Amino acid sequence: MRIVIAGAHGKIARRLGRLLSARGDTVVGIVRNPDHAADLTADGVEPVVRDLESAGVEDVAAVAAGVDAVVFAAGAGPGSGAPRKDTVDRGAAVLLADAAEAAGVRRYLLVSSMGVESVRGGRTPDGMDDVFVAYLRAKLAAEEDLLARSALATTVVRPGGLTDDPGTGRVTLARSVERGSIPRDDVAAVLVALLDAGTDGVVVELVAGPTPIGEAVAALP
Ligand SMILES: NC(=O)c1ccc[n+]([C@@H]2O[C@H](COP(=O)([O-])OP(=O)(O)OC[C@H]3O[C@@H](n4cnc5c(N)ncnc54)[C@H](OP(=O)(O)O)[C@@H]3O)[C@@H](O)[C@H]2O)c1
Repeated sequence: MRIVIAGAHGKIARRLGRLLSARGDTVVGIVRNPDHAADLTADGVEPVVRDLESAGVEDVAAVAAGVDAVVFAAGAGPGSGAPRKDTVDRGAAVLLADAAEAAGVRRYLLVSSMGVESVRGGRTPDGMDDVFVAYLRAKLAAEEDLLARSALATTVVRPGGLTDDPGTGRVTLARSVERGSIPRDDVAAVLVALLDAGTDGVVVELVAGPTPIGEAVAALP
């Protein structure tokens, strides 16, 4: 496969890039900081520099031309305020969708987040920090934008709290799961399995659990 990863220097993204490149897939990684390019090259990932908060659709479509799937693993990250939740977690994900469509790419995997259902319909959960509300709203808006597009086969993965613990290869993956955490290693492995499975229209939550990743993905509807 040929895959584009947006936010390719991120912690999940680098794990995903290494897994894909190690098995012979061609991976193009979009980073905004040119200083990150060397790390990607060392991972076996081809770096391309684009800032997804300022790039145009055509700039990104040129990167996506001829690929089998795009993966959005970018995020404004801890320490960012509400405006960047909107410009990255929503806006950049939507830009990647526009670019995928313009390039004729059908498959899109979005790394979203557990908790987005708590803000559906404009709800504000009691006691939740304003920036976290903005983050969840941005993720939900990105999901809704992508899932409404008939030209894209979208898969949404909503991980629980991310950790840097070693992966176990076992997860709980379903439409709705109890809150929990998940090693980034296992999120990356699930993304690989979903790319291979060719899912379309699937929206799943993901936490650590007992089920081998291959079985968990095979059991999806
Ligand atoms: N933390 C959690 O517990 C949790 C839980 C569920 C879901 N998630 C989501 O999971 C995803 C991946 O998490 P992670 O920990 O792997 O993320 P991460 O390490 O923070 O990586 C995010 C990447 O996005 C890049 N990025 C930010 N703005 C960009 C822009 N304008 N153009 C291009 N790239 C840009 C960052 O680049 P720079 O290094 O240049 O800033 C960074 O490399 C994120 O969307 C996150 O919100 C997180």
